[in-house]
Amino acid sequence: MANLTSNFIGIKSPNPFWLASAPPTDKAYNVVRAFQAGWGGVVWKTLGAEGPPVVNVNGPRYGAIWGADRRLLGLNNIELITDRPLEINLQEIKQVKRDWPDRAMVVSLMVPCDEESWQAILARVEDTGADGVELNFGCPHGMAERGMGSAVGQVPEYIEMVTRWVKKHSRMPCIVKLTPNISDIRKPAEAAKRGGADAVSLINTINSITSVNLDTFSPEPMIDGKGTHGGYCGPAVKPIALNMVAEIARSAETQGLPISGIGGVTTWRDAAEYMTLGAGNVQVCTAAMTYGFGIIKEMTAGLSLWMDEKGLTSVDEVVGRAVPNVTDWQYLNLNHITKARINQDLCISCGRCFAACEDTSHQAIAMSPDRVFTVKDDECVACNLCVNVCPVEDCITMETLPAGTTDPRTGEVVPAEYGNWTTHPNNPMAKAAE
Ligand SMILES: Cc1cc2nc3c(=O)[nH]c(=O)nc-3n(C[C@H](O)[C@H](O)[C@H](O)COP(=O)(O)O)c2cc1C
Ligand code: SF4
Ligand code: SF4
Repeated sequence: MANLTSNFIGIKSPNPFWLASAPPTDKAYNVVRAFQAGWGGVVWKTLGAEGPPVVNVNGPRYGAIWGADRRLLGLNNIELITDRPLEINLQEIKQVKRDWPDRAMVVSLMVPCDEESWQAILARVEDTGADGVELNFGCPHGMAERGMGSAVGQVPEYIEMVTRWVKKHSRMPCIVKLTPNISDIRKPAEAAKRGGADAVSLINTINSITSVNLDTFSPEPMIDGKGTHGGYCGPAVKPIALNMVAEIARSAETQGLPISGIGGVTTWRDAAEYMTLGAGNVQVCTAAMTYGFGIIKEMTAGLSLWMDEKGLTSVDEVVGRAVPNVTDWQYLNLNHITKARINQDLCISCGRCFAACEDTSHQAIAMSPDRVFTVKDDECVACNLCVNVCPVEDCITMETLPAGTTDPRTGEVVPAEYGNWTTHPNNPMAKAAE
C-alpha cells in the first residue's frame, strides 16, 4: 500500500492534503473536526495585526457559477481575513497543535507592509508551536485597498522584501502564497525565492464578477444594491492554477522551489495532477466548503489506490513526474498525425459533432440522411473539437496514423521521425539557421 505521508519543507503530515486558509480553518472547532476526519494539515485562516479585527459585510459574501446539474463549478467571495480577535486565534492554534502534534499547522499572515508589524506577529505565532507560516500576498479584495494582500503580491520587490523580514525574524519555514492576478506568475515566485522563501503556494483567488442581477443591475453578490469584485475559486480555476504551478516547476529560475498546489482540488485525481506538475502537496478550500470535511477519505483512498496501480510507493515519487512533458508549443511533434474516429455502437446520433465541425471547424464530419455520422479523413485536421462536444464519453477518439501511411488530407507520407516548428520548412527562422 502506498505511503501517503508527506514532508513538505520539513513540515510533516500523514497525507499531502491540507485545508487552505479560509473559513474551514477559521477556528479550532472546524480544524479539530477536520483532523478527526483525516486531513493532513491546515493553513489557519489569515491572521491580521494586533488591534480591532477586520469587519466583514453582513450580507451575502458569495457568488457562484453552476453546471447544468447545479454542481458548483466556481465560487466567488468577498470575505476578508479572520474577523476573530488575534489572541483567541493564537490560543486556539496553540491548543490544537498541542492536541494534534502529527498534523501540519501552518499559520497564514497578512499585516501592514512594515518590518515592525511582521516582526511583532511572527514572535507571537512562533510561540504557538505552529509548524510554519504562509504569507498571504494574494487576497484580491478589501485588503489590497489597505496596502496588503494582492497590492503586495503584485509587486515582486515587495514580496522579496517582506519575505526577507520574515526569514530574518523567524525560524519557522515560510511559504509565500501567490496571487494569480498578475501577468507572469514566475516573477513573484522568483522574488519569493530571492527573499529566502522555503516554498510558494498558489493560487489564491482570481479577481472576478460572477454575474450581474438583470433586475437590479448590480453585480452579485449584492449588498444593498451594490456589488464589488471578489475572489474566484473552485473547480473552474484549476486549469489556470495548474498552468501556473507548471510554469514555476519548469522555469530555470524557480526549478526545485517547493510548491503547495491550490485551486479547485476536489478529488484525488486533481491532487495527483497538481503533484505530477510539481506540487509537493495540495491545499483545499471550495471542495470542503461544498461537500464537508468527509471528502478527505475519498481523496486519500483514491490517491493511495492510484499510486498502488502505478507502482508508486511514496508521495515523492509522484511529485514532478509530468514536468518533463510540459513543453513550449514550438517543440510539439508536428509529425504526430491523428484522425477522429466515431464509435457507431456508442453514437446516439445527436449531431453535435457535425454541427461543431461543419460550422466552426473543418467540415470533416459527414451526416447521412439516416443520421449516421462519419469522419472524412481527407478533411480532418485532428483538432479534437468533436471529441469535446460529444455528450457520450469515448464515443469519438483520436487514432494515430502509423508512420509510412499517407495522410489523405495532405497526400503526404507520415514521417517516422520527430519534427517540430523549430526545424519546419515554413519557419523563416529555421530557414535562416540553415
Ligand atoms: C470564503 C473564502 C475565504 C478565503 N479567505 C482566505 C484567507 O483568509 N487567506 C488566504 O490566503 N486565502 C483565502 N482564501 C483562498 C483559499 O485559501 C484558496 O486559495 C482559494 O479558495 C483556491 O482554492 P479552492 O479552489 O480549493 O477554493 C479564501 C477563499 C474563500 C472561498
Ligand atoms: S477532429 Fe476536428 S476536424 Fe476532425 S472531425 Fe473532429 S472536429 Fe472535425
Ligand atoms: S456528438 Fe457523439 S453522439 Fe452525437 S452524433 Fe456525434 S459522435 Fe454521435
